[in-house]
Amino acid sequence: MRLATLSLVLLVSRAVASVADPCAAIAGKKWVSPLEARSCLFSFPVDEDIKNNIIQVVNKSLPFHTSVNYQILAPHPFDKEVHEDIAADVAQIKETSYPSDFHFHLDLYSSFRRLNDGHCTIFNFCYDSLYISYLPTPLVLLAASDGSQSVHIAPEAFSVASAEFPDQIEFWQDSLPGNLKGKLASLSGAKVLKINGKDPFIAVDENAKVTGGYQAFGTRQNLFFSSYSRGPNGYTYNMGQFALQIHPLTDLVDLTIQRINSSSTEQVSVSHCDTLFPSALMIDQIPYRSRFGSAAKNFTDRESYRANNCVNVRGTNGYNVYDLASVLEHAHETVPPVAYVEQQPTINNQDRRRPINVVLDATPLSDIDLPKELLPTTVVLPESYSVAQFHLLPDDITGVLALGSFSAANFTVFMGSLLDGLQELKHRGASRLIVDVVRYICIAHPQAGLDTCTRAGSLAQLIVEKINQGADPGELLSYNPSQWKNSSHVPYSLETHWLRPTVNLTINGHKDAFSPRLGQECQPFEIAPPDHGLFDPQKIAIVSNGHRRLNLIEPENQGVKTVVIGGHQDVPQQYCGVVGGQSTHFAEIDTEIKTNSVLGITWRLGFGLNDPKEPEVARPPPDFSLPLTMSIVNKPAEIWAYTASMVFSTDVVAGPTDSAQVYFP
Ligand SMILES: *[C@@H]1O[C@H](CO)[C@@H](O)[C@H](O)[C@H]1NC(C)=O
Ligand SMILES: *[C@@H]1O[C@H](CO)[C@@H](O)[C@H](O)[C@H]1NC(C)=O
Ligand SMILES: *[C@@H]1O[C@H](CO)[C@@H](O)[C@H](O)[C@H]1NC(C)=O
Ligand SMILES: *[C@@H]1O[C@H](CO)[C@@H](O)[C@H](O)[C@H]1NC(C)=O
Ligand SMILES: *[C@@H]1O[C@H](CO)[C@@H](O)[C@H](O)[C@H]1NC(C)=O
Ligand SMILES: *[C@@H]1O[C@H](CO)[C@@H](O)[C@H](O)[C@H]1NC(C)=O
Repeated sequence: MRLATLSLVLLVSRAVASVADPCAAIAGKKWVSPLEARSCLFSFPVDEDIKNNIIQVVNKSLPFHTSVNYQILAPHPFDKEVHEDIAADVAQIKETSYPSDFHFHLDLYSSFRRLNDGHCTIFNFCYDSLYISYLPTPLVLLAASDGSQSVHIAPEAFSVASAEFPDQIEFWQDSLPGNLKGKLASLSGAKVLKINGKDPFIAVDENAKVTGGYQAFGTRQNLFFSSYSRGPNGYTYNMGQFALQIHPLTDLVDLTIQRINSSSTEQVSVSHCDTLFPSALMIDQIPYRSRFGSAAKNFTDRESYRANNCVNVRGTNGYNVYDLASVLEHAHETVPPVAYVEQQPTINNQDRRRPINVVLDATPLSDIDLPKELLPTTVVLPESYSVAQFHLLPDDITGVLALGSFSAANFTVFMGSLLDGLQELKHRGASRLIVDVVRYICIAHPQAGLDTCTRAGSLAQLIVEKINQGADPGELLSYNPSQWKNSSHVPYSLETHWLRPTVNLTINGHKDAFSPRLGQECQPFEIAPPDHGLFDPQKIAIVSNGHRRLNLIEPENQGVKTVVIGGHQDVPQQYCGVVGGQSTHFAEIDTEIKTNSVLGITWRLGFGLNDPKEPEVARPPPDFSLPLTMSIVNKPAEIWAYTASMVFSTDVVAGPTDSAQVYFP
């Protein structure tokens, strides 16, 4: 009798404990509701020591980011897009008290996002992409035959969702209202008239205002929509920020839609408001579902959640490369934690030393497959490697290089494949080339036209002084003069203080200091490029959705055509949405400091092509801005063929540089 009572008491107290511990309640579950996820994430009070430490780290790292003072008020044309005093934000955040640690992080995170700079961002593996919220209805922006544009549920939505979320599809099927229940597939392609009762572009623009990463507003708008890209193992599908959110903050969305072929007599019973809308329209309430992140560490309760996901691990911070114990500890490190937010495939540590320029984003690189029916069926050349795929279009004269990143697992093989593939395209008779892109590094190095400089704050000055005095005999550090070349491309000697004579500037009222102009270190390339270009520049088109930039060739100087696909017709598109020279992150800089949260910074500032005295602000708008349609959206081969037909047609002249040309099919 007593025993039974005891076990009952135990059971009760256990139940109470699990209710009191919102993390225990979701532990081990792959899918939870956003509410359940955020109950756990919001359950940790601010730890003042950790908060102060984060503020300190941020405050010490920011002086290494080249653009802090420029970003207080960016020069035209981004003065309306970039006007954030991040140092002032950090000071304010330091003084603010928050109801939870997650609130604190969200404030810091969104302050950095407002810089609209994919190279200066802060992430916390405790919260970002811990639970990613999904909808089964990614959106696209499509043009009709009369040229009018509207938002649609992607035609491939059901195909993508049922393949990627087989264990959640039923939940979504059941949650659809009225006679839509179980008919999720019929929503694919539907026109979206309203999102949460308002014009869809209100939601698009609200997202563009906070999402960050790119200066260009048009580029940030486009992030809302789904797209494809080339990954190391295949073409991947990006859900877009409507259907994928890195924090579990939204529970559901109301969509007012018109399904394909819906007739005006269609009656749909919905739980509310159905009389407000014509009967052909439906209000469809779709809940987000949050999936445990692929890089998140398992936990069983609040305590283990924090212990496994929220503390420093090897690689979060830098280390002393001359301390044997630290070196040994890092010797087996294959991939540092920052790799998770880098928008490039995983690369080895040796290639990490290359001057790579990579955008950081809390959304991990998509590993969702592009559905089979969208994959290109065009000839693939065997020279293709990883993120670089060579196709020959059925017209036999248009070659395509689909380039998903400027980094691949084996850099040497990657560079070789780029050259071999282009030569093979030529050999097979291709006379014109579409490059579908991209991120940037040495293969497309800043020096393809851009000089750079680095910020020369007092700590940086001190590091170089120490190195001059012999502190880095192994020439292992980024601040070692031997790593760099002056603007005549002559390597600095070990004793040169290469940050001097320091260039002193006042930017937006703040004193700032930069190194003299630097040259480039990439060339000579390990593989000799051909003596002359393989393709006539006039016959090359670079296609992007604005997220990516290619410096491989100097587009506007040589007649190469630039094309942005997608985007709102009333918003100027940019084919490079973010400025950067060479970027790095906190652990790298911390290593520099020691040898004497992940924060990404731009370490070298790229000078402009058009005004080489000023930092690079923006490239001219693209020559072509092509809209997507129902029949080509997210289908790479169709997009290439359409692009070729528009931009290589002999009677088409590229538009004046101040306004992009728009062609409708
Ligand atoms: C984490 O939990 C999931 C589901 O319970 C399990 O499949 C996986 O193997 C676990 N991972 C580790 C590293 O323990
Ligand atoms: C950042 O560091 C500077 C220089 O040490 C100091 O003056 C400032 O108060 C610090 N700001 C914050 C927010 O800690
Ligand atoms: C819409 O109607 C057309 C013409 O009847 C048909 O060919 C098409 O398959 C229909 N589409 C859908 C998604 O039902
Ligand atoms: C890259 O590939 C080349 C040629 O196959 C090979 O010799 C080299 O060891 C590889 N490098 C790495 C880092 O795997
Ligand atoms: C670069 O260094 C070389 C060798 O010291 C020197 O001759 C040259 O003038 C330097 N270039 C600049 C721009 O300082
Ligand atoms: C820039 O300022 C620093 C520190 O005040 C000074 O040492 C240096 O000479 C200045 N540079 C120039 C080119 O005047």
